This record gives sequence, C-alpha cells and structure tokens, in this order.
Amino acid sequence: MSQNKIREKIGLINYPKLDKTLDELKIIEKFIIENDTLKVELIMQNKEAFKTVKEEIEKIAKNEFKSVLVSQDFMKKKGTNYGHTKNPNNRLPNVRKVIAVTSGKGGVGKSTTAVNLAIAFAQAGYKVGLLDADVYGPDVPRMLGLDLEKMQWNDNNKIIPAENFGVKTMSVGMTTPRRDTPLVWRSSVAVSALMQFLEDVEWGELDFMFIDMPPGTGDVQLTMAQELPMAGAVIVTTPQLVANDDVSRAIMMFKDIAVPICGIVENMSYFIAPDTGTRYDIFGKDGGKNTALKYDIEFLGSIPIDMQIREFSDLGKPPVALGTDEHKKAYQAIRDKIIKALL
Ligand SMILES: Nc1ncnc2c1ncn2[C@@H]1O[C@H](COP(=O)(O)OP(=O)(O)OP(=O)(O)O)[C@@H](O)[C@H]1O
Ligand SMILES: [Mg+2]
Repeated sequence: MSQNKIREKIGLINYPKLDKTLDELKIIEKFIIENDTLKVELIMQNKEAFKTVKEEIEKIAKNEFKSVLVSQDFMKKKGTNYGHTKNPNNRLPNVRKVIAVTSGKGGVGKSTTAVNLAIAFAQAGYKVGLLDADVYGPDVPRMLGLDLEKMQWNDNNKIIPAENFGVKTMSVGMTTPRRDTPLVWRSSVAVSALMQFLEDVEWGELDFMFIDMPPGTGDVQLTMAQELPMAGAVIVTTPQLVANDDVSRAIMMFKDIAVPICGIVENMSYFIAPDTGTRYDIFGKDGGKNTALKYDIEFLGSIPIDMQIREFSDLGKPPVALGTDEHKKAYQAIRDKIIKALL
C-alpha cells in the first residue's frame, strides 16, 4: 500500500460511536514516516476512544511498517484543532448564547430540564428560544402546553415560532398532522429539518437559545456544534447513571469537539416524602458532584424526583412556572449558576 493510501485509510476511520471520520473531525495532528516507522499523533480527550482508534490504525499499518507509534495529545489548548467545530458556522446571528441540553442517555430528563431552564431564563428577563432538536421524539411542545399548536408563516415566508411562558419554540412536533405521527426520516433529513428551523424561523433577537438534544452522541449533536457557536453544554444525568459510560461519553464528546461544558445537572436526585417531608437519597448521594469533580466540570445542582414534576410536565404546566416553590427554586438556582458560568 502506498503512503498516501495508508493516510487516506486512517483518515476514514470512524470516531467511535459517531458517524464522523477522523479526517472530518480533523483529529490527526501528525502523520510522519521515518525509517520504516509510522508516527501518528491524534488530538483526542477521550482515552477509551483513543484506544479504539489506536488499535484500528495499528491494524491498517502494522504490516507496512517496522513499527507503528500512535500517540494522544490531549493537553492541547481547548479549541485549537478540532476541525470545523472550532470555527462553526453561525446560523443564528441574532442569538447571543446557545446552550445545548444533552446527555449520552435517553429518558434522564433532558427535555424536562431544557424546558424548565428556558422558562427560568425568561423569568429572569432574558429573551429566550428553545429548539427541540429531538426530531424522532419531540417532547417540547407538550411540555410547554403547545402540542395543539400548528406551524404558521409570516408575510416574509418565515416560520413564526410558537410561544408560551415567555419562551419561543420550534419543534418537528408542530409540523406533523398529529402528535403521534411517526417520523421515518433518515438522519440526514432530520439534520436538514433542523437547519431549516435555525434559518427559516423568525426567532428575532434572543439572549439565549436552548437546544433540547436527542439522546446519544450522534449526528445531530455534532452538526449542531458545527453550525452554531455553542456557549456551553448542560449535561443531564441521574444518580444511578453517574457511573455509566454514557454520561462520560457525552462529556468527552463535547470536550473533543471543543464545546465548553457549563456543568452537570443531577435529575431525579432525591425524593422528599410528601407526607413526612423526609428526604430519601434513593440512588445514593453526591454522585453528580463526584462526576463533576472527576471531569473537572461544574456541578450545577439537583432536581428531586417528584410525581408532580412528571404530572405537570405531561399536562404542559412547567414546574418552574406553575409548580411548588421548591421546584421553582431548584431550576432557578441552576439557572443562576449557568449565568455565572457564562458571563
Ligand atoms: N425530576 C423528575 N421527577 C419526576 N419525573 C421526571 C423528572 N424529570 C423527568 N421526569 C419524567 O421522566 C420522563 C422522561 O423525561 P424527559 O422526557 O425529560 O427525558 P429525556 O431525557 O428528554 O428523554 P428522551 O431521551 O426520550 O428525549 C418524563 O415522563 C418526565 O416527565
Ligand atoms: Mg427528550
């Protein structure tokens, strides 16, 4: 195999669990051939991902060279060389700060957290938008009490975002004839629908745009980071997931693509018995804090597990606006920490 061919093959290796190649992510910092030795240097934060990629490179090159040395450089300054996410496009020039609410895992409360945080920011007087980037399971309209809302256009042929609780929002859920209409899009179509929501919606001037991410660490997350300058990612976890790979994968992915992480929210943290007021740490204590420490990111706060949070969310009555003082305060305290981290 020629040297060019080997370089090409290595560039085509997929970043573990992402639909992007090393070349697309511009992760290969050095590719040097000296005296029958191949030296490859990769800029990656994630040790696990590095190990997998290293093995693949060795597999491709081991028969061609006397030795293959693959090294990891994660000490590089943040944001120096992670490919197009370094200088993302800016499809929302009228938005001051974009915040992604994400988690490696499904069902941990990303949408609930995104909706209530967005409202909490609006309560503090900011102009706020919330984009539902979960095209296959769009939950935002229901949680904001907008599930009967249909898309409307203005005279300039722009989509008018729906609005409730001071938050402007757009979701694929508003484009389908019925709430439960299933979407059978390929991921590329899903991504272009989201691009349209960025460009063809009359968002106006906004201080903050929240993005409710779908579960996982895939194409949508990556594309969003390439198309928008992200001010930060809020990682949502539950206590029993703290030890779980998915959360660290999400943290590492955002580090790898140079999106700053605002911090961790621990959702469904503890239970306060409604009859006695006793607090139960059902899944143990301080898991979120320990994860934050481990990855050197901020712990933003915890939200209790509470029947009312679920019921109110299902009914389109967001707890931060219509719930108990306890719930309002919990979301608002997280908001204040995020503002402090960002300003
Ligand atoms: N703190 C909480 N207390 C009680 N129920 C909660 C809490 N947070 C979320 N829920 C409920 O858990 C379910 C999942 O929450 P949510 O839809 O926000 O998760 P998600 O991470 O966005 O899920 P998906 O990955 O499917 O998008 C919902 O029914 C929601 O009402
Ligand atoms: Mg969701």
